[in-house]
Amino acid sequence: MKAMNRAAIYAGTFDPITVGHLDLIERAARIFPRVILAVAASTSKQTWFSVKERVNIARAAVERFSNVEVEAFEGLLVAYARRKGVAVIVRGLRAFSDFEFEFQMALTNRKMAPDIETIFLMPKEDFSYISSHTVREIAELGGDVEPFVPPPSLDALRRRLGATRPPGSPAGKGRSRRRSG
Ligand code: COA
Repeated sequence: MKAMNRAAIYAGTFDPITVGHLDLIERAARIFPRVILAVAASTSKQTWFSVKERVNIARAAVERFSNVEVEAFEGLLVAYARRKGVAVIVRGLRAFSDFEFEFQMALTNRKMAPDIETIFLMPKEDFSYISSHTVREIAELGGDVEPFVPPPSLDALRRRLGATRPPGSPAGKGRSRRRSG
């Protein structure tokens, strides 16, 4: 087995990355010497943005962190972590409602890979209600999403809505399995 390094992986769909995600990244980047933001290529969610777009948006959003890198991954998260030689998966716990799913995922991942630990960080309480889905919905319905997303996500949302939406028609929803925001 590859020797594990001291990096951490923060994985998600990031469709698109929000200020809540960035808050968590900032916390992780203070604790770990290297943080890999892993963007899930295949997901059960119907995403608004392609994996390439999600990676590019996230990359622009985390530019100011010298120890954060962004990469797409496919397949099992624990297999990806092993390939990267990373033994820590960081997850965010925003509210009690996140707990059950996170508990299930952490224990499943532990069963598959006992050498990989999941740790939980709490985002700032101001961001605990944000989800990518709510951001997409607000944007789609003409609301102001500027308080919820970094500039690269805002630009991408505007481009997407400007480019694809005849007024009043949905631009490709994709609700969360859980955490509908
Ligand atoms: N701030 C703002 N929003 C947050 C947040 C935070 N700190 N933390 C989570 N969210 C939001 C996300 O934006 C997302 O919103 P959306 O559903 O509206 O798009 C929602 O909460 C769920 O986020 P998360 O729990 O991170 O799930 P995800 O779908 O983004 O990522 C993977 C889940 C990709 C990490 C997981 O499915 C995975 O590991 N997949 C790989 C395959 C695998 O290994 N499967 C076995 C797992 S046991």
